Amino acid sequence: MAFGLFKKKREEKSEIPSVKAGHLNLTVQKVVNETADAISIYFEQPTAGKINYKSGQFLTLIAEINGKKERRAYSLCTSPFVDSHPAVTVKRVEGGLMSNHLGDKLKAGDQLEVLEPIGNFTTTFDANNERHIILFGGGSGITPLMSLAKSALNQEPKSKISLIYANRDANSIIFKTTLEQMEMENPGRFKVVHVLGQAPSDWKGHKGFLTQEIIKQALETLPHLTPDQTEFFMCGPGPMMDIVEQSLSNLDIPKAQVHKESFTSDAGKKKEKSADDNKIIAREVTVIYDGEEYKYTVEPGETILEKGLDQDIDLPFSCQSGLCTACRGKCVSGKVKMDEDEGLSEAELNEGYVLPCVSHPLTDDVVIEIG
Ligand SMILES: Cc1cc2nc3c(=O)[nH]c(=O)nc-3n(C[C@H](O)[C@H](O)[C@H](O)COP(=O)(O)OP(=O)(O)OC[C@H]3O[C@@H](n4cnc5c(N)ncnc54)[C@H](O)[C@@H]3O)c2cc1C
Ligand code: FES
Repeated sequence: MAFGLFKKKREEKSEIPSVKAGHLNLTVQKVVNETADAISIYFEQPTAGKINYKSGQFLTLIAEINGKKERRAYSLCTSPFVDSHPAVTVKRVEGGLMSNHLGDKLKAGDQLEVLEPIGNFTTTFDANNERHIILFGGGSGITPLMSLAKSALNQEPKSKISLIYANRDANSIIFKTTLEQMEMENPGRFKVVHVLGQAPSDWKGHKGFLTQEIIKQALETLPHLTPDQTEFFMCGPGPMMDIVEQSLSNLDIPKAQVHKESFTSDAGKKKEKSADDNKIIAREVTVIYDGEEYKYTVEPGETILEKGLDQDIDLPFSCQSGLCTACRGKCVSGKVKMDEDEGLSEAELNEGYVLPCVSHPLTDDVVIEIG
């Protein structure tokens, strides 16, 4: 079989009949227009029991588009402690398959196939905590931050929460009214600093792209706690998060206190060729999943996940970009090269975890255990 050199998005066969393990069939309770190009999709809780999720986690939505099943990850914007119905917020991407399909077609009463919530962009809440949670959001990156902010306000009465939120213009601020209300209801505990790319003439806040200077100025206006009592969460476009990371690194904030969620991958960016690239040749791999052992050969130009799915092995996955960790497995033998490892923490990498959706075998003895 011939395979293209570039990673193709997996298109599932549409005849998968009913709900499988880890899949849920959810009914849409309501669709709320947040801005001209963003909607929130609220789900009814399943009759079998409430959806169990942590603030900051995401759902994988599966929808049939042009006769094929597509999967995309969407962060929950709701708090499990506050909101009765879980919801995700989807912003349209120009030419994007899923975001436009959902924006155009979805309505209350529709059923959606969804993968159970997962994700590590979260924190453990404790009523005794007295910390400052500083959130940096850009555009649709507000979604998991909203979930974290609501939960922190509800669960940690002694903690303060601040949000530095960058948007193109005033009309693209998702959750504008809810954020204003949260500020009013939590004086001294919740503060939003808006940054607008294009601001109206009477705008008193920060203007232009989020820069290190703006971050410095914004941080100076926030309540001060010692650095070890402060935790940072960021989610937004790659260039914005690079600036935030650089600013926090300049302030000597330890990496363990900085949490990052990426919606898009850097894998497409031109990367330096490494010596390992020459070792990517057709090699057999062993994947152990759900008590079964599968052996198959992965060609250069395809990933371990991609080839497994082509072999009709029902492996877990969502983003296929090395971001979400839905496909995570442990490489218990041999060595792989990952095109992208952003989704994994340093500890996970040290323990041998890999993301098969962006992995190529470098040796002939690769064994990956998933689940
Ligand atoms: C863990 C995780 C959580 C996510 N949470 C959210 C969320 O809460 N809300 C949300 O709206 N999206 C979220 N995303 C992004 C989402 O999964 C989709 O990638 C996005 O909706 C685009 O899908 P699409 O099918 O419309 O576009 P596609 O058909 O997949 O892509 C069309 C084109 O748009 C580019 N593209 C893809 N995503 C983006 C983007 N975000 N911005 C700019 N260009 C892009 C692609 O590279 C491609 O060129 C999340 C992604 C991850 C990995
Ligand atoms: S499917 Fe998302 S990291 Fe592999």
